Amino acid sequence: MSITSSPSQPTNSEMIKPDAIRIIVLDNIAQEGLDLLEQAEGIEYEIQTGLSGAELQSALAEFDGAVCRSGVKITAESLAGNTRLKAIARAGVGTDNIDKAAATRLGIVVMNTPTGNTVSTAEHTMALMLGLSRNLAPAHASLLAGKWDRKKFSGRQLAGKTLGIVGLGRIGQEVASRARSFGMTIVGYDPFLSNSQIEQLGIEPCEKVENLLPQIDYLTVHTPLTPETEGLIGAEQIAQMKPGARLINCARGGIYDERALVEGLESGKLGGVALDVYRSEPCTDSPLFAMPGVLCTPHLGASTEEAQIQVAEEAVTLLTNFLKHGEIRHAVNTIAVDPQTMEKIRGYLDVAYRMGILMSGRHAGAIESVSLEYCGELAEQDTRLLTSAFCVGLLENIADHANIINAATLCEERGLDIVTQASREQDTFNSMISATVGGDGIECQASGTLFGKGMPRLVMVDHYPTDAFMDGFLLIFTHQDIPGVIGYVGNILAKENVNIAQMAVGRKAEDVGGRAIGVLNLDSETPQSALDQVLEYPGIDSARMVRLPAHNEMPDWLT
Ligand code: NAD
Ligand code: MLT
Repeated sequence: MSITSSPSQPTNSEMIKPDAIRIIVLDNIAQEGLDLLEQAEGIEYEIQTGLSGAELQSALAEFDGAVCRSGVKITAESLAGNTRLKAIARAGVGTDNIDKAAATRLGIVVMNTPTGNTVSTAEHTMALMLGLSRNLAPAHASLLAGKWDRKKFSGRQLAGKTLGIVGLGRIGQEVASRARSFGMTIVGYDPFLSNSQIEQLGIEPCEKVENLLPQIDYLTVHTPLTPETEGLIGAEQIAQMKPGARLINCARGGIYDERALVEGLESGKLGGVALDVYRSEPCTDSPLFAMPGVLCTPHLGASTEEAQIQVAEEAVTLLTNFLKHGEIRHAVNTIAVDPQTMEKIRGYLDVAYRMGILMSGRHAGAIESVSLEYCGELAEQDTRLLTSAFCVGLLENIADHANIINAATLCEERGLDIVTQASREQDTFNSMISATVGGDGIECQASGTLFGKGMPRLVMVDHYPTDAFMDGFLLIFTHQDIPGVIGYVGNILAKENVNIAQMAVGRKAEDVGGRAIGVLNLDSETPQSALDQVLEYPGIDSARMVRLPAHNEMPDWLT
């Protein structure tokens, strides 16, 4: 059942089921997206647009998921203290209106809909390029003012001209194919694409932006706004262009230095400027607006019926699939995992998570370094998520709200040095995860694997082979491999009425009578007094209890 409320309508709290998943829609999205929310089982939603400040913060605290466009600004302050929100879906590409670092720290996944508005934005870029070249806006205004001036508005053809494209991702490539059909030559720059990839797109690659500038009649940028792209085109770059170059920006304000654009137009160096996006939005006042040769739209690149339906439907689907089934797609602050990959690695995520708990339980001091090794078939997967799962386990008893989204960040913030390596070589098992944690002069090692689909097994402790269930209560002790040790430990546990569910003793094959490790799966916890007695035995030099989740008990993010 769903609930909709306009900003002025209070929530009908009597209708809200306590266990329902609650979604807040923070910007206007297409009705088709709202229809999907309406039809979704177990989901309730409210529309609350125009929120900011404390109002936004208290609204967000009441919901599990949020859908937005670029209107609302989801700042660190608006997320502060939020323990409920799990995901934000952006109906659109740019997520610069969301503080992703703050969301990540709180374990909130941020997703976007990268493809829904690509074509619309590429078409808008072409529209601006054509409009600029053929003086459409001033000619229209002049005609409406009663003038029939054909000479003044004579323009330029696109055919035969050179277009420079900076950023050859989805939109950049769509623009390129449209520009080619207009008979333009295209030169492009994108440091993340190889020259041969760029050539295959029918674009002449440039090693640097500077190489492209002297060649172009038109320049369009299609990159995100990043520290590298901010102010990418300023006075210095404009100076390198041919006189009369025309500049278009349908990506993000701030990539062009707006002051330099004004100066370039004033000096006659630039033949025209067309902008859809601005340094600060909404932007209703700019020195550019009054200048001839300027064509501006209010961030309309994605504003078509088709694009808005597509991004709204996609954002709602992403959000509901994540909140209901844990499926992460198009995440911008964590690794996206499709359902098939998730199914493949789910069991090992559980192994990694349990190993994290085990290692933090075994290591008595402050952990400073973590080394993880993924071996065998598992090494073929993207192992970053497994590392995150390990970190969740490591922080389980240390940090509140650690989850698969924020755990690695939280570990880094604690100064933990995490090193990972993957090796396709198989040892005894098809796949295995090995962890070594160090700090405070202590080092602990363990390896885990998965038996069947859902039986995490501990197969090595401190490099001694073993075979123990990775669930419930584990008593791990190191000792000398001599008769009597196991009987002694068993007797102490029996006196405490602690039942041993399974027992494994391991030592290196060549080390008869040397050091060995004992791992006991117990049905209940051993009191410290019993552990103290265990440690009194001359052959035993360490003994530690570790509590792992019960068999089949999984954290929320894994179910
Ligand atoms: P994309 O991720 O598919 O492509 C971006 C490209 O920029 C990538 O190929 C990347 O390698 C490249 N890039 C990154 N840093 C670069 C740098 N320093 N120099 C050169 N290239 C660099 O993204 P997209 O979907 O094509 O979107 C592009 C931009 O358009 C984004 O900023 C997005 O927010 C914006 N956008 C605007 C509208 C609108 O309404 N005006 C609509 C959709 C998207
Ligand atoms: C985007 O990043 O998707 C665009 O800027 C479109 C929008 O928000 O309307």
